[in-house]
Amino acid sequence: MTTYTQQEIDQLKMSALQHLWIYQREPSEMAEKGGPPVFVGGTDCHVTDIEGNSYLDCMSGLWLKNVGYGRTEIADAAYQQMLELTYMPAGSTAVPTVKLAEKLAEITPGDLGRCFFTSGGSESVETALKIARAYQRRVGEAGRYRIISRRGSYHGATYGAMSLGGMPSAPRIDYEPLMPGAVHVAQPNPYRCEFGGETPDECGIRCANAVEDLIKFYGPQTVAAVIAEPIASPPGVAVPGDTYWPALRDICTRHGVLLIADEVITGFGRTGRMFACEHWGITPDIMTVAKGITSGYIPMGAAITRKEIADVFVGSEDASFRHIITFGGHPVAAAAALRNIQIMEDEELPQNADEVGSYLLDGLRELYARHESIGDVRGKGLMCGVEVVKDRATKENFPSHVKLGDRLTGMFRQNGLLLRGGDAMNIAPPLCATRDDIDEIVTVMDSVFTDLESELL
Ligand SMILES: Cc1ncc(COP(=O)(O)O)c(C=O)c1O
Repeated sequence: MTTYTQQEIDQLKMSALQHLWIYQREPSEMAEKGGPPVFVGGTDCHVTDIEGNSYLDCMSGLWLKNVGYGRTEIADAAYQQMLELTYMPAGSTAVPTVKLAEKLAEITPGDLGRCFFTSGGSESVETALKIARAYQRRVGEAGRYRIISRRGSYHGATYGAMSLGGMPSAPRIDYEPLMPGAVHVAQPNPYRCEFGGETPDECGIRCANAVEDLIKFYGPQTVAAVIAEPIASPPGVAVPGDTYWPALRDICTRHGVLLIADEVITGFGRTGRMFACEHWGITPDIMTVAKGITSGYIPMGAAITRKEIADVFVGSEDASFRHIITFGGHPVAAAAALRNIQIMEDEELPQNADEVGSYLLDGLRELYARHESIGDVRGKGLMCGVEVVKDRATKENFPSHVKLGDRLTGMFRQNGLLLRGGDAMNIAPPLCATRDDIDEIVTVMDSVFTDLESELL
């Protein structure tokens, strides 16, 4: 790992403040804290900053470091591919790209089997939206242009993807008007069910029915697709009741609406299965992936389509899917993805996420029993969430002047955890996490919540 002098560190931080836009960070606020954190290395679940401090990364970077940091096998695979071929002539492909498409067809549910590769999650979602609308035209349903998504979800930063969902921390007001035809329904979050469902299953069925009501309200002949994350990352991981996904699959099929499962976060082992759709035994018409496909070692994503849908684009030039992304299917990214998936399979990381994730959830349940300010804990695999409340009975959050997010984040950091605090928190360490890593997370959270409650309650 390269080491830096204090002068070099100061210079780097100054340059970052002057020349960089860092997502979700505002320069003057960062300057007050001495500049942005800069990281230089990592192994498994731990990362080291430029000052030499080590932290346990409870967010896997941004939900993507699935096999953990420091896997030289992936670097080697990318390096070997760089020596062989780094791009291919227009309109052709390369060996690892084909092998990756074949591998994804093998490991994704049902007959998902044709991949359009992209450079990341937003492009995967854009691609899925375009496939959905173009598919409906190809089958004589040109009036179907609406896309239904859930309030509170996040599907990406580009115009189409941004028009979907609606996460409070990614407000869209600056960028309006957005994509026409984007309409929204409730998030199946059993803790705060919009329809008063008292159990996860009741909430799930009511939220699924709300999708059908919306389809009927606009008319099925105007609706192209529904897009949803199998388990939503905001707000603090909403795990739907088991009724939700089978009902949603059925509703979409009955109304000729394509179902897009956005597995950008949940894909590649995060929830204890290779893909989260497997928890409910359903096959979406299109699945979007990114992040964990390479464990973030290099940018890549894909929109993966069921054979029946993809076949509509086969047979003539007019029928073909007209869509180009220069870096989609980059052979170096494909080689890295193949090696990454092989590590997941060899080391049974989805199974580890399931087992260690249950251990984490048990630990969080103990914290819930001890701390009044924890309103709810939930999760599947290593995708867990905690809601922080001022009052458990009313589920009221702490007022904004308390600056709960900054306060908690700072306290976690002082104790060696990279964990973003807030009203709803996500805990998602790399899938190679051990029980010792989980013990560390739960122990630090316990002491931080003890301190928080002595200050605020
Ligand atoms: C569910 C989901 N879809 C899409 C995206 C967009 O991915 P990217 O930031 O790689 O464009 C994200 C990003 O966090 C996501 O969580």
